[in-house]
Amino acid sequence: MKPAGEELPTGFVGRSPRIAQIRSLLNKIGPGRMPVLIQGESGTGKEVAARSLYNASPVGAFVPIDCGAVVGPLMESELFGHTRNAFTGAGEAKRGLLELANGGTAFFDEIGDLPGELQVKLLRVLQEKEFRPVGSLQRMKVDVRIIAATHRNLEKEVKAGRFREDLYHRLNVIRVTLPPLRDRREDIPLLIERFLQNSGKRYILTHELSQALNDYDWPGNIRELKNCLDRMMAFNSGPLLHFADLPTAVVNHVRGTREPEMAMAASAGGEFPAPVSPIMPLHLVERVAIKRALDHLKWDRTEVAIRLGIGRTTLYRKIKEYELAQD
Ligand SMILES: Nc1ncnc2c1ncn2[C@@H]1O[C@H](COP(=O)(O)OP(=O)(O)OP(=O)(O)O)[C@@H](O)[C@H]1O
Ligand SMILES: [Mg+2]
Repeated sequence: MKPAGEELPTGFVGRSPRIAQIRSLLNKIGPGRMPVLIQGESGTGKEVAARSLYNASPVGAFVPIDCGAVVGPLMESELFGHTRNAFTGAGEAKRGLLELANGGTAFFDEIGDLPGELQVKLLRVLQEKEFRPVGSLQRMKVDVRIIAATHRNLEKEVKAGRFREDLYHRLNVIRVTLPPLRDRREDIPLLIERFLQNSGKRYILTHELSQALNDYDWPGNIRELKNCLDRMMAFNSGPLLHFADLPTAVVNHVRGTREPEMAMAASAGGEFPAPVSPIMPLHLVERVAIKRALDHLKWDRTEVAIRLGIGRTTLYRKIKEYELAQD
């Protein structure tokens, strides 16, 4: 038996009870051919879950189909293929994505964005296991496992008349709901560790930074956490990553949640991010001192450099290093 928290070969990281439950569900239903509907906010790992499901028992190909991207008249032929000269500019016959997925899995990403006319055609694939390439008179048999994902609430979409109810019921045979990251905070350190490891370099987080990352709500979920770390690593050759390296959204959040301490800092004429401990890292002091001077002197860099007692070049370097910008 695998210890809790150990990932699948596909990289489905997480040790929270909800993720452990989902992981075992994915392993259990992986070998079947039933349709699976994956729901979850943006960035919660719907595609990662779909691939894990497929990898639990990989047969045939895994073909991702981005329902939001295939728009316009070419969409139908993308999906179902077309015969030679089926329409102006069609040229040679082309196999569609569904045919490529034959014997395997088609992953309909953002299924909520699939236009009405294609919803009907997909329903037919699910019901009758066949489709007709554009320009062809003959129907083609397919055996495809359908995994669909959406960040939308499909019940609401059905009620609003934007999504076909019959298709919804066909897709919603087994449902996997991925929880937002803020509801499974115990996975945050694990994910951070994974993303830092993936960089191939050695990074260490300061205590404040690690606390801020664990406290933040991550509205963009795992994708936002990954982007945040990627960004910090891109600007920093390491090994130490600081609170000051955080994107503004996270910093503002931390400031907001530590208001009393902030008020104290403000009344002292400061604008320091609320200190987590009485120790204020020097780089943070420096960052705030420079930002304050810049704002106070309306970003007159020459004057700021003189008043701070540093060279202009140093000032420019530090503005870049601390990613300071005019508000
Ligand atoms: N459990 C996980 N373990 C490790 N990395 C993950 C996990 N879940 C998601 N990720 C990473 O987070 C990012 C977002 O994942 P994914 O694209 O699967 O999310 P999504 O729900 O499809 O997001 P969107 O709605 O933005 O398309 C990817 O970089 C992915 O590698
Ligand atoms: Mg996605």
